[in-house]
Amino acid sequence: MARLGGKAPVLKYIIPAACVGLLVAGLLANILWASSSSSRPSIISYWESSEDSSKVIPLIETKNFNNNKAPIAREKKNSTPEDLSVPLLEWEEMVQAPVPRLDGAAIQIGNLLYVLAGYGTIDYVHSHVDVYNFTENTWGGKFDMPKEMAHSHLGMATDGRYIYVVTGQYGPQCRGPTAKSFVLDAKTKKWSQLPPLPVPRYAPATQLWRGRLHAMGGSKEDRHEPALEHWSIAVKDGKALENDWRPEIPIPRGGPHRACIVVNDHLLVIGGQEGDFMAKPGSPIFKCSRRNEVVYGDVYMLDDGKEWKQLPSMPKPDSHIEFAWVVVNNSIIIVGGTTEKNPVTKKMVLVGEIFRFNLNRMEWSTIGRMPFRVKTTLVGFWNGWLYFTSGQRDRGPNDPSPKKVIASTWRTKLSL
Ligand SMILES: *[C@@H]1O[C@H](CO)[C@@H](O)[C@H](O)[C@H]1NC(C)=O
Ligand SMILES: *[C@@H]1O[C@H](CO)[C@@H](O)[C@H](O)[C@H]1NC(C)=O
Repeated sequence: MARLGGKAPVLKYIIPAACVGLLVAGLLANILWASSSSSRPSIISYWESSEDSSKVIPLIETKNFNNNKAPIAREKKNSTPEDLSVPLLEWEEMVQAPVPRLDGAAIQIGNLLYVLAGYGTIDYVHSHVDVYNFTENTWGGKFDMPKEMAHSHLGMATDGRYIYVVTGQYGPQCRGPTAKSFVLDAKTKKWSQLPPLPVPRYAPATQLWRGRLHAMGGSKEDRHEPALEHWSIAVKDGKALENDWRPEIPIPRGGPHRACIVVNDHLLVIGGQEGDFMAKPGSPIFKCSRRNEVVYGDVYMLDDGKEWKQLPSMPKPDSHIEFAWVVVNNSIIIVGGTTEKNPVTKKMVLVGEIFRFNLNRMEWSTIGRMPFRVKTTLVGFWNGWLYFTSGQRDRGPNDPSPKKVIASTWRTKLSL
């Protein structure tokens, strides 16, 4: 099944990427994705950088990139200075998801990956769940989300049957958040309500820990200001055991789009950013406009519930990774994301590496690269295979700035 030989997957991808980039640049961006039909504004759209899109993947560079692709154990040359040198992985493309998704959410229960919400375009958000079956490698089982549930920037965690969905952004563009929170019984596909978070948040770090659902950080109601607050509520079998969330120790650094993981009875919060796109003041459609963002690779851990401890930082700053991780053999694996913007062009820079945090050694390493760079990808692990689906990918091997929102699904054999 797997396509062997280091060359094949890369070649297969480069050619369509170049064609798409050159032929559809501008067209796709302006008609499908861009939020305004007016000439390019000084603000940078949520969907692409402000740079002229004709700059995508010069063919000559693509060619050079291919020529460098001998089947070697380790890549010799980076595509851009932001990329790290990493071992090569073989990727297999699977059936694509029913819809493309940016800022979607996903949780794996057994051999099923539940994929929720997300933007289809900047003006359209999904309000349903798609399910990927790792045993059959098929998509199916679509069902609706509650009408009042947020459509992106969700906080989400599972106990293995119930999926808890906390707060998030309600609607497309850069609309306001809702504090409303819900629970899905994955077995019966029935939804019920949870007490709302005391105040709404965008993409708070969320996890179940010692019988309580925790939500912390995220962006405040304006979508930009990093929040430090942390709350928890006791839950069991899909029900809240308390009427209200209670305050917990604030997280040392705030902001959205972080991985939040409980492993070995410790609560970890990894990466993220301060600042995010926010609604343009006065815009009737809450049009997204770019604001300053600081991406970081900090790792914080709570072991006693009272005091945050700092662990070694990621190999590079990484954000948009809230559902881009799995835990395998006492290692945390994180796939893709975004890192600090290009210091010269100011374009957003996507991440194509796969990072491992070895919990035995408390040590980070970079274990491979995706077939292209993706932010807000949704990740699962089954039977030795690491899967990712959805998110927003780069413009090409030599341009790490964001372009197309994707539905594609890929897997690679993981060997730690
Ligand atoms: C997933 O696929 C397996 C293998 O075909 C099948 O037995 C199982 O019922 C499927 N699960 C769901 C929920 O569809
Ligand atoms: C995890 O550990 C088991 C037992 O040592 C091993 O068989 C398996 O291949 C490991 N998984 C990965 C992904 O390395």
